[in-house]
Amino acid sequence: MADTPLPPDASSTVDAERGAWKSKLGFILAASGSAIGLGNIVFFASNAYQYGGGAFYLPYFIALFVLGIPVMIVEFSLGTLTGQSFPVALRKLVGKRGEYVGWWTTSSALFITMYYITILGWALSMLFGAFGGLLTDPAVAPFTGMTEPTAGPNATVYFFGMIATPWPLLAVVAIWAMTILILWRGTATIEKAVRVFVPLMWLFMIVLIVRGLTLPGGIDGVLYLFTPNLDGILDVNVWQGAFAQMFFSLSLGLGTMTAYASYLPKDADQINNSMLVSFLNCGFEYIAGVAIFSMLFVFALNPAGTTLSLSFFVIPQGIANFPFWVKGFGVFFFFLLVIAGLTSAVSLVEGVAAPLKDKLGISRAKALTFVMVPGIIGSLAFALPFVVDPDLTGDGTLGLTLLDILDHWVFRYSLLVGGFMECLLIGWVLGAANLRQFVNEHSKFSLGPWFDVLIKFVIPIILGVVIFFTLLADLTGGLYGEAYTINGFEWLPVVIPIFWIVATIATSIFLTNRPMHESTPHNVPAEA
Ligand code: TRP
Repeated sequence: MADTPLPPDASSTVDAERGAWKSKLGFILAASGSAIGLGNIVFFASNAYQYGGGAFYLPYFIALFVLGIPVMIVEFSLGTLTGQSFPVALRKLVGKRGEYVGWWTTSSALFITMYYITILGWALSMLFGAFGGLLTDPAVAPFTGMTEPTAGPNATVYFFGMIATPWPLLAVVAIWAMTILILWRGTATIEKAVRVFVPLMWLFMIVLIVRGLTLPGGIDGVLYLFTPNLDGILDVNVWQGAFAQMFFSLSLGLGTMTAYASYLPKDADQINNSMLVSFLNCGFEYIAGVAIFSMLFVFALNPAGTTLSLSFFVIPQGIANFPFWVKGFGVFFFFLLVIAGLTSAVSLVEGVAAPLKDKLGISRAKALTFVMVPGIIGSLAFALPFVVDPDLTGDGTLGLTLLDILDHWVFRYSLLVGGFMECLLIGWVLGAANLRQFVNEHSKFSLGPWFDVLIKFVIPIILGVVIFFTLLADLTGGLYGEAYTINGFEWLPVVIPIFWIVATIATSIFLTNRPMHESTPHNVPAEA
């Protein structure tokens, strides 16, 4: 292959001033804490359910090996190769067009952060609810989907009641405050937080899986999830769902993992790290899937409605039916959601703040402020409690409607487009063989030339096809959200996607064309 060698100044050792993980364990905890989040608990189970259990599982499994681990190797090694975060790393390696891509994905990450934190704010509000009245009346009619909330005090009614109050606005500010606190001193404070939160989330998940499986009939849900079913194998929607879920779950496509890896020493074994983080993440995801599916089957619950319905009212409804210690399990579940999501939100914010710091040469506090100000405004917008659809043929409140429509576009496109462009740039401009050589130098295993084929051809082709068909379906099937009742804000389905595209492209053009800050040395040798 006609790959030119790496640019001579591309590589760098860890700059202790920028931040550095104290140990490999600290990095693995932080990166797996990033990966394990709402995606594993909320979105995996509802996607698996939506795409038919066993039909989802196979594409998802294939996605892990064909896309997940290889793209993680790329994102990790960009960080150690350059010692910089995503847009700046791409600038160094593949030039200005790389930086455009990098800032585009970074600004998309900010949009995801905004609503991710709103969802965490709701989870925090539900946690308070679990201490209080949320789970006090198990004797309600079975859940019938979010469009028909039953009259009793069940989780659905509780959730829609809760998001229509101003309390979540306060919860959102609290989650932002915790996120910034954990990020304040960079790797030092992140490492402290993940050392507590990551083991704790495994512990809580294990409690929940034991509870789910020991319920009479719990095993049927597991069978539904794992019985292979080839029906969906030709359905491009199932593959789209599996790929988007894989990217989201592994925190790929937006450069987040590059920021974390840039605090590693240059000789870190990125094949080993990628496998460890991917297996930890997917292991957690399957455990969460089993716990959730066992409950769905035992209580014959039906997760209709949006992806959020599963964790916000189907699971609580299941927990409310537990034979004993209902409150305890309810609190466990929402506490788990909050800490798992918090360690992911931390990585999302770091993935946006680190590039600003690297590019503009500003202080950490300033970079965090630049992210936090628009971030909080966005998160508050998604928590707006005004009821725009009292009949719930859409999403009820203005905030949830905004969130649902934005998520449709950002979740389906930004990660996959980011991954697609990243593979093209690394595969063809830098040269996959060059990256592979760097990775192999520091790894016990060696990647063979098949890695180049994956990065240059297989992944871009698969992603290209999936993106094309998704776009086709979106452009021909009516605009997403058009059918909702959104009293007074009927223009939202049109304006939101346009706003997202224009805002991210404009940010990318603006930041790429800012002069690169050069005065801090990037090549300070590591101390240890
Ligand atoms: N992986 C996290 C989850 O499963 C979410 C997340 C964190 C993320 N950082 C990301 C998703 C970067 C995409 C890109 O909840």
